[in-house]
Amino acid sequence: MLTLDEAFRKFKSRLELNDREQKNASNRHTEVREHIRSRFAINRDFLTGSYARHTKTKPLKDIDIFFVLAESERKKYRDSAPNVALDDFRNALVDKFGKDAVRKQGRSVNVDFGVVVDADDNTDYRVLSVDVVPAFTDGANYEIPNSDTGKWMRTNPEIHAQGARDAHQAYSSEWKGLVRMVKYWNNNAKHGKDKPVKPSFLIEVMAMQCLHGGWQGRFDYEIQGFFSALADRVEDEWPDPAGLGSPVSDDMDAQRKGRAKELLQTASREASNSINLARKGQSGEALKAWRQLFGPKFPLS
Ligand SMILES: Nc1ncnc2c1ncn2[C@@H]1O[C@H](COP(=O)(O)OP(=O)(O)OP(=O)(O)O)[C@@H](O)[C@H]1O
Ligand SMILES: [Mg+2]
Repeated sequence: MLTLDEAFRKFKSRLELNDREQKNASNRHTEVREHIRSRFAINRDFLTGSYARHTKTKPLKDIDIFFVLAESERKKYRDSAPNVALDDFRNALVDKFGKDAVRKQGRSVNVDFGVVVDADDNTDYRVLSVDVVPAFTDGANYEIPNSDTGKWMRTNPEIHAQGARDAHQAYSSEWKGLVRMVKYWNNNAKHGKDKPVKPSFLIEVMAMQCLHGGWQGRFDYEIQGFFSALADRVEDEWPDPAGLGSPVSDDMDAQRKGRAKELLQTASREASNSINLARKGQSGEALKAWRQLFGPKFPLS
């Protein structure tokens, strides 16, 4: 039978990007890029967000693509409310992908490719959707639309990427794997239509402080402690780690934060129960309990 350590390592690798997924993401990027470039003056476009930092979980969806608009577009878009750029991007994308596939969001426009997810959370290595983000440069930073506040918001993906690299290195290169696991838990359908933690970027931001003291060598203890620390601190205010955008915790109101805390506490308890099962020698039951906690990508064999 699979040992617990082997099960966690297999789980971790199932949440990593593989070559076929990267190829599909690159094809989708090219397809969207060519279309957007035919409609707007674009200086640069690149894959960013958790995808580029290797903290994206599975199923692979909402890959962020930044489109840095040329200065010639500044007057029309940057000097207007965020909705003007978001609406024009949406309309352009509807022309190519159809209105059922395109959805305007707070800071991006989502394009859904209609990929089906099977019962094991597999997608035949295909990307479900991308988030198209209009952006302007602002010195060394960027500004992106935020229709929730009605203002353009500063951000810096390079600073976020460096923060994640530093945290990963300080944690014996296990940090990103743990972040992907908890983001996978956060996506589980058992929570209903609302994820416990919103946005899931908040899990990564909290992980910069909730995973500390260094990797101790056991996934089960690390995960239990991680859930418990997240539960303790999810109601706090969490600023943008780059100190530029609005607090990352602003997407949840007090009620939603209270629910997140409860669900994280439950997960921490479930993790403790799984650890106890293994301690009593009930290894098969322990694996099942971990799978119950995380979802179908946690292996039983
Ligand atoms: N409040 C914020 N202030 C500044 N930058 C932000 C803020 N929220 C998100 N960002 C930046 O925008 C990127 C994309 O946001 P998004 O919500 O898609 O998060 P993500 O890290 O890509 O996570 P997910 O795996 O859920 O897609 C983030 O990775 C981060 O670099
Ligand atoms: Mg994203």
